[in-house]
Amino acid sequence: MIDKILIFPSTELFLGNQLLKTDKLLELCGNQKVVLVADAAIKDLYAVALAKKLRANLLTIPSGEKTKNWDTAQTLIDQLFQVGCGRDTLLIALGGGVTTDLVGFVASIYMRSLPFISIPTTLLAMVDAAIGGKTAINTPYGKNLIGTMYPPQAIFVDFDVLQTLPAKEWLNGLAEILKMGLIRDGSLWEMAQKNGESSAMILQAILGKMQVIEQDPMEQGLRRILNFGHTIGHALEAVSLYKMPHGQAVALGCLVEAHLSLQLNYLAKEDFDSILAMYKKFALTLPKTYTRSHLLQAMAHDKKRAFGQIRFVLIDQIGHAIPFDGAYCRSVSPNELESTLDWMEQWK
Ligand SMILES: NC(=O)c1ccc[n+]([C@@H]2O[C@H](COP(=O)([O-])OP(=O)(O)OC[C@H]3O[C@@H](n4cnc5c(N)ncnc54)[C@H](O)[C@@H]3O)[C@@H](O)[C@H]2O)c1
Ligand SMILES: [Zn+2]
Repeated sequence: MIDKILIFPSTELFLGNQLLKTDKLLELCGNQKVVLVADAAIKDLYAVALAKKLRANLLTIPSGEKTKNWDTAQTLIDQLFQVGCGRDTLLIALGGGVTTDLVGFVASIYMRSLPFISIPTTLLAMVDAAIGGKTAINTPYGKNLIGTMYPPQAIFVDFDVLQTLPAKEWLNGLAEILKMGLIRDGSLWEMAQKNGESSAMILQAILGKMQVIEQDPMEQGLRRILNFGHTIGHALEAVSLYKMPHGQAVALGCLVEAHLSLQLNYLAKEDFDSILAMYKKFALTLPKTYTRSHLLQAMAHDKKRAFGQIRFVLIDQIGHAIPFDGAYCRSVSPNELESTLDWMEQWK
């Protein structure tokens, strides 16, 4: 069965099993010239068959975060010229967040923009990277520093492609689902606790992110809640020199920021204990390169920083981020932060 939901004014979201084997995508392609850009690692698994079905030109990009840069974007743009793409060529991304971010970026700038469809194939890309319209590439100055806002025409979430996803990639996506559970959807948290049906969790997480973005497209308040766990999480990734997977960093970040919520007397001990029990399943450890001063230094770059102070999204129960008069975050004194970091360092 295929579900179709309109998200954003202009993006259709299709979800279902065996979705890539149906004719839905072919219908959307119409008579346009189509170029499918896929992560090389899933070329034989999905891309070749899909390109054949869509009668599309198939291009691949190497797997991994290192690919998400100007060089690959430039190579892709050259290839698009070489295969004769014009403004009406439909560009389709097939892969994880690296692919959807990069191809979305190229689609937004090639001849001042091409029609674009996104097919996320990792759990993380389904619930997070492909949702919300942000495209990006990395630079030597930092991750995701160059990009555009370019929502695709359609997003195809085929649950079956997850069958080939390695376990560690599942954890990356699960960390974002759990985050959504903690900040605004207690029922999603419960589903995750009970190892619920993954397709139902994916849909609920996507809708949660969409609703937040709709209410605050410019990230002036509510949208900040999506950064829960990421103030600490991003800093941990930086301290690990980006060796720590994002999901592991976010999982530990969510737990630590939940602890901060407990310590500041917003969150009940009972709720915190249930959060702790859940994250213990992730086998969390701090990166070997961790030092507290490194972490504090890395946090100084956090986007929510204001007037020289680091601000945190906090929760007062499972499923509810605290509004703080519409700011959805508050500054934390160095002493308050240090006590929670003392607690965190048990994961060394
Ligand atoms: N645009 C946004 O709003 C946003 C939000 C969150 C994350 N991101 C970005 O997303 C990226 C991370 O995405 P990711 O975790 O999907 O990483 P990824 O794209 O690198 O995919 C992870 C791994 O899974 C493999 N893979 C993909 N689909 C597979 C499948 N079906 N079967 C087997 N293997 C498969 C890939 O080859 C890769 O090795 C980061 O660059 C991050 O910045 C963007
Ligand atoms: Zn994240």
